[in-house]
Amino acid sequence: MPANLEVLFAPAEFAVLAKRDLTRTVCVVFDILRATSTMMTALANGAAEMLPVAEIDEALTLHRQRPGALLGGERHGLRITAGQAGGRDFDFGNSPREYTRERVQGKTIVMTTTNGTRALRACLGAQKTLIGTFLGLRAVAHWIERERPEELLLVCSGTIDQTSYEDTLAAGALCDLIWPIYSAGTFSDSAQISRQVFSFARGDLLKVMQHARNGRRLLAIPDLCDDVAYCVQRDTVDFVAALSPAGAVRKLDK
Ligand code: MLT
Repeated sequence: MPANLEVLFAPAEFAVLAKRDLTRTVCVVFDILRATSTMMTALANGAAEMLPVAEIDEALTLHRQRPGALLGGERHGLRITAGQAGGRDFDFGNSPREYTRERVQGKTIVMTTTNGTRALRACLGAQKTLIGTFLGLRAVAHWIERERPEELLLVCSGTIDQTSYEDTLAAGALCDLIWPIYSAGTFSDSAQISRQVFSFARGDLLKVMQHARNGRRLLAIPDLCDDVAYCVQRDTVDFVAALSPAGAVRKLDK
C-alpha cells in the first residue's frame, strides 16, 4: 500500500488541521526549541504525564482539577509569573534542564507554551500523535518503520506565527531516516524541502541554530543559552511518547 508523507511548516496551518479529517493520519509534532524537547526530558526523568494546553487560563483550570500537579511553560520564552497567571508563579519554565528527576518523578505537569502545546492540541483528532525531537528521533523512526502509517504528517510548531528553521531541520532529519518507506509512495514538496535543508545542515546543527530566530533568542539569554546545545543532541532517549485522545502526553509502551 503506497504511503503518504507531508510536512506542515507554518503555525497558520494549525487552524486548518483542526478542520482536517486526521482519523487515519499519524502526526509527529516538533517544537525542538523547546516544548517537545522539554516534554521528552520530563518523561525521561520519570514524569508520569504532561498535559499540554494552549492558554494560561486553561492550564490554571486543569491544575485546580488535579491536586498534586505542577505547572510549566513560558511566554516570551520565560517562566510564567504570578502577574500573568492570577497570582500563582508557574513551577517550571520551558527549559528542559529544569525538569530534573528530583523535581518531576511521578508528577503530572500541566504545560502551556507559545507554539508547541498549541500545535499538539491541533492534532488531537489524529489517529495518533507522537512527540518529535532530535533527542528521540531514532526511536520515532523505528516506531514508524514498525507501524508503517499510511498517512504521516510532520507538524512543525514554528516560532510565534512563522515557520522555524529548527523544526524544519528536525522534520527533515526524520524524513531522511524514513525515506526508504515513503519515497515509493507520495511525498509532498515540503517533505523533500525539509530533507534537503537537513542534508545541508546536518554536519553542525548547533552552528545552524545561530541562524534560527528562536535559536538566536535563546543563545542571547545567559540562563537559557545551554538549552540550544541540549536540544540538538541526537538520540539521548530511547522511547516514544504520544498524545492520548484525552490530551495527555505519556511514554508509549514498547
Ligand atoms: C514554544 O512552544 O513556542 C517554544 O517552546 C518557545 C520556547 O522556546 O520556550
